Amino acid sequence: MTWTRTDLLGIEGLEPGEITELFDTAANMKEISSREIKKVPVLRGKTVINIFFESSTRTRISFEIAEKRLSADSVNFSASGSSLSKGESLIDTARNLEAMSPDIVVVRHSCPGVPHMLANRLDCPVINAGDGAHEHPTQALLDAFTIRERMGRLEGVCVGIFGDVAHSRVARSDMLALSKMGARVIIGGPPTLMPLEAHSLGVEVVGRLEEMLPEVDVLIMLRLQLERQKQALIPSAREYAVMYGLNPARLKLAREGVIVMHPGPINRGVEISPEVADGPCSLILDQVANGVAVRMALLYLIAGAAAKARAGEGAPRIWREGDAATTPRAARKRRREEERGG
Ligand code: MLT
Repeated sequence: MTWTRTDLLGIEGLEPGEITELFDTAANMKEISSREIKKVPVLRGKTVINIFFESSTRTRISFEIAEKRLSADSVNFSASGSSLSKGESLIDTARNLEAMSPDIVVVRHSCPGVPHMLANRLDCPVINAGDGAHEHPTQALLDAFTIRERMGRLEGVCVGIFGDVAHSRVARSDMLALSKMGARVIIGGPPTLMPLEAHSLGVEVVGRLEEMLPEVDVLIMLRLQLERQKQALIPSAREYAVMYGLNPARLKLAREGVIVMHPGPINRGVEISPEVADGPCSLILDQVANGVAVRMALLYLIAGAAAKARAGEGAPRIWREGDAATTPRAARKRRREEERGG
């Protein structure tokens, strides 16, 4: 195992070799889910806390299943009903959680950067399960893994990402992951749902689905992220479906063998019609199944790297010139003491 990373905060910064190692591990992990007894003792005795400050069905359950299949003790924490709703700060909540000695923290928050902040505060590995409109790295990894599994490669595959790109953390992480792995990426959507910096993202940009369809081997449709839109950016969901939705008529413009994906939750009849979502081109449920394997692989690799780092074999995660500490835990402790003037 060459993986040394003890957090996964984003796709930015991940090397293609690390992504390949994760995919190869996930391919092995996948077999466990088809066994009669779907459990291996890899994380026995380890506690994983899933902190979800934003609603989630797929991602939270997928992490929980992955943790349980590796025999970890999972604890789920959601903001409602917690001390946060009584005015406790995020840092205080994090410190209290840390006092209970978790081995890994998985966090989702509507505010970009929260996983990074926690990673700098906590002594245990942190995995980003989605931070605002910033990144959703495990979704991008499972998307790229699903494409690699079906196509046998990512290099040279043309992937279109269409819809509410401006508000989608999945689009951002997908673009980064797929480009790093050598795929050709085209993004598109209505002008009001495209990021202002679209043309400087290093990917191709189109306005209409019809322009993208004849080019792509894989099409990832995005959900309209109405909860992140601060003003009305489209006239109506119905008009969006008519102008931009993927339906059987539009799908006819695509290449033979095109694959359709969606990170979920899907809005049937808005960005994708039920016929396409449930049709033969759709890999939407494969994505969900692969999500468990990819998260199992990630938990396994991160737990292994953390154990090595504790034993002084890995590079400290926070390392500054002059730090006497040789482990991430010690370096962070020292930094916090300095901050407190200790
Ligand atoms: C997300 O959490 O960003 C989802 O996986 C995608 C979505 O909500 O549309």
